[in-house]
Amino acid sequence: MSGSRLPGFLPDDPEEEALAGPGLVVPSGPAAEGPLELSTSYLGLDLRAPVVASSSPLTGHLEGLLALDAAGVGAVVLPSLFEEQIVHEAEVATELTHREAEAHPEATGGYTPALDDYNAGPHRYLRLVREARDQLDVPVIASLNGVTRGGWTRYASMLADAGASAVELNVYRVAADLDVTGRQIEQETLELVEAVRAASPVPIAVKVGPQWSAFGDMARRLADAGADGIVLFNRFYQPDIDVDRMAVEPHLVLSDADELRLPLRWCAILHGRIDASLALTTGVHAGTDVVKGLLAGADVVMTTSALLKHGPSHAGVLLEHLRAWLEVRGYASVREMIGAVSQRTVRDPAAFERANYLATLTRYANERKGW
Ligand SMILES: Cc1cc2nc3c(=O)[nH]c(=O)nc-3n(C[C@H](O)[C@H](O)[C@H](O)COP(=O)(O)O)c2cc1C
Repeated sequence: MSGSRLPGFLPDDPEEEALAGPGLVVPSGPAAEGPLELSTSYLGLDLRAPVVASSSPLTGHLEGLLALDAAGVGAVVLPSLFEEQIVHEAEVATELTHREAEAHPEATGGYTPALDDYNAGPHRYLRLVREARDQLDVPVIASLNGVTRGGWTRYASMLADAGASAVELNVYRVAADLDVTGRQIEQETLELVEAVRAASPVPIAVKVGPQWSAFGDMARRLADAGADGIVLFNRFYQPDIDVDRMAVEPHLVLSDADELRLPLRWCAILHGRIDASLALTTGVHAGTDVVKGLLAGADVVMTTSALLKHGPSHAGVLLEHLRAWLEVRGYASVREMIGAVSQRTVRDPAAFERANYLATLTRYANERKGW
């Protein structure tokens, strides 16, 4: 499809044009005859659709996975298997006494058997991968969670042997140690990615939170360290305080659609600039959110909270909306729309972001003149 610039989008001022780039790309004519093509490419895998069910309890059992498959998702990501669980299992099996030899105490000290209720434990996890691979029509992505570079990363190859098409590395870490610098955390994360990359015969995606000083640089280094894809962004669950009991309370609140904006911005910035697929996660609730994520430059959008709220069939609702949107806009395929509203052609993304910041404040103030 040849594209054209959307009339009226570009500013007249050449300096502003330098910031804005050539603008939106819109389809040049009616969609080609034939069915709409929803397929996309993610981590080098061909997916039938760009909506992926991300890690959650819903993807932790075969029944949920089959329902998601029936609803049309492009792939499923299983709940994370935790470093602590794998290390613990290895210790029990080999009766090793020096458990701290290879792993960091932060990761191994907190083993809790209750984790096995969350994802069935390492042994049954491999069985779930195998069953899902046999019974689902879509790729099954296994998920590992850890913070250290230890022998446990070899589990990635066992997951691949069991049938996982890819491994997602869920890097969930709160930098609460005041003696640890940002640079150290970046370095440890990159070493972890390298270790999983070396152990995994299948593609790996790295799922990260948003709190990095310069996420663009970090994203590029993650790709250089071997990440085939970046999943942005995980949500950190924030405990609350119960003022009656005067105690900390674990608190899990599902996301809402406003949280989409942060990953949306970063997909738009990174699209076309790093050598890795992009998956947008957080805040995808409605079909419009799927459209926005793809326009910003995500190769797939992932969703969890909406599926937990509305059930697995909601994935079908999201895809129906996407199909209708493509039809109305004259796109023949999802691949044509990916990145159409990204910053790929913006020469200076930092200046573009700053110009938008100033424009947003000015517009708000102008709308409220006369207060
Ligand atoms: C109950 C629950 C369990 C989750 N478990 C995992 C997990 O095991 N591993 C992981 O990487 N993300 C996990 N997530 C995060 C989701 O995969 C997703 O990235 C996050 O909820 C943001 O997407 P959403 O706005 O669509 O919910 C979990 C989320 C929820 C709500």
